[in-house]
Amino acid sequence: MGKIISLIDKRFNLSTSHKSFLQRDLPGRMSYLYCLGGVAFTLVIMLVLTGMMLSLYYVPSENEAFHSVVRITQEVKLGGLIRAMHKWSANLLILFILLHMLRVVVHKAYRPPRELNWIAGFMTLLIALSSGFTGYLLPWNQKAYWATVVGTNMASTIPFFGRHILLLVRGGPEISGVTLVRFYGLHVLWFPMAMGLLLWVHFHMIKRQGISGGL
Ligand code: HEM
Repeated sequence: MGKIISLIDKRFNLSTSHKSFLQRDLPGRMSYLYCLGGVAFTLVIMLVLTGMMLSLYYVPSENEAFHSVVRITQEVKLGGLIRAMHKWSANLLILFILLHMLRVVVHKAYRPPRELNWIAGFMTLLIALSSGFTGYLLPWNQKAYWATVVGTNMASTIPFFGRHILLLVRGGPEISGVTLVRFYGLHVLWFPMAMGLLLWVHFHMIKRQGISGGL
């Protein structure tokens, strides 16, 4: 086995590039608090994997969405587990992002030269919250419907542009199949892409600036 690995490594030179990518100097004082961002990232990966599995059975249409979720939960093998893992990962992601932010605030790591990374990080929080909001509608049940009525109504209270934002978000004056498809597109394509891009920026800046030395 070792021979095969060293043959592959000789041909592709993997271990050298792997080392230059991952081996970094760390500040002298480290603690488990520095793992909170990594936990958040692990949850993002869990969300992508379980979301990809759910997308094989979920049907984003006005007539089918509710039944497809019931089918996933009751009939598809391990469907209930995958759905629960997706939901729990989403909730825990928000919790761990907030804890990670708290760690950054306590260590004053938001100060220059890391101020732009704080902004990039904050945008990932907005994307995570928006993903949660759009995902909440997808089961297409009463709770999902009314939560979205309340959530989108808040947009209409924004001065001057409120009504336009409401129409844009709902895809019409009421919540309908158009809203469902719109939220589905945002949830499975636009937001994950934005999250991937922002995290790439976030990690790139961490690589460039290194992790701050704490207090
Ligand atoms: C899905 C969301 C996020 C992920 C996966 C993530 C991941 C990470 C990771 C792995 C680190 C390395 C050190 C550590 O873990 O503490 C880090 C550092 C950092 N993060 Fe995040 N982060 C996220 C969201 C945020 C948010 C919301 C903010 C602030 C609003 C933020 C601001 C920062 C800053 C300023 C650093 C540099 C800290 C230092 O050098 O000590 N991050 N992030």
